Amino acid sequence: MKVSIIVAAGLNNSIGKDNGLLWHLPIDMKFFKERTMGHHILTGRKNYESIPEKYRPLANRTNIVVTRDANLKIDGCLVTTSIKEGVEFARRRGEKELFIIGGGEIYRQMLAENMVTHVYLTRVHENFEADTFFPELDPKKWRTTSEIFCQKDPKDIYDCTFYELVKI
Ligand SMILES: NC(=O)c1ccc[n+]([C@@H]2O[C@H](COP(=O)([O-])OP(=O)(O)OC[C@H]3O[C@@H](n4cnc5c(N)ncnc54)[C@H](OP(=O)(O)O)[C@@H]3O)[C@@H](O)[C@H]2O)c1
Repeated sequence: MKVSIIVAAGLNNSIGKDNGLLWHLPIDMKFFKERTMGHHILTGRKNYESIPEKYRPLANRTNIVVTRDANLKIDGCLVTTSIKEGVEFARRRGEKELFIIGGGEIYRQMLAENMVTHVYLTRVHENFEADTFFPELDPKKWRTTSEIFCQKDPKDIYDCTFYELVKI
């Protein structure tokens, strides 16, 4: 099973502030939706709660929410107190590609535990003030397999580059 992080980060690796996103980029939202549709997704409890209520659980995806609160129940989601158990759940269900959708704490632990095989990184070409950051990827451990630059336009107001990376 592929275990893929999907993330959008500013030039300074900023990904969030006050439990929200830092930009509105329809092109990246479309990319996220297309990639994750039909798959299992794994999210930290804070990131899950940052999703506007009308969009959660994310439709047509199996939502796995990680929390340290053993009593937490969320309608329509699998709730687990262990990241590893969440990953194993997707594997047991025969998932081919599990998406790790954040936030910062979950990205950091998944990378530190070497549980990630692929990264979809949308680099937003701007520095943002933030309180949550994506870890710096070690270039010795990750190879870029695809890189697509998208120029800003009236809808997407920042230049961005879609990278795909694979674990070496
Ligand atoms: N730019 C992007 O692509 C992107 C993507 C996703 C999120 N974000 C942003 O990231 C921010 C949220 O990230 P965050 O780092 O604050 O929070 P997070 O990673 O979404 O969630 C943290 C929570 O997950 C649970 N958790 C973490 N490690 C755990 C473990 N080992 N075992 C069990 N549960 C564990 C805990 O939940 P409990 O407190 O319930 O115990 C913890 O408080 C928001 O600003 C969001 O908008 C950005």
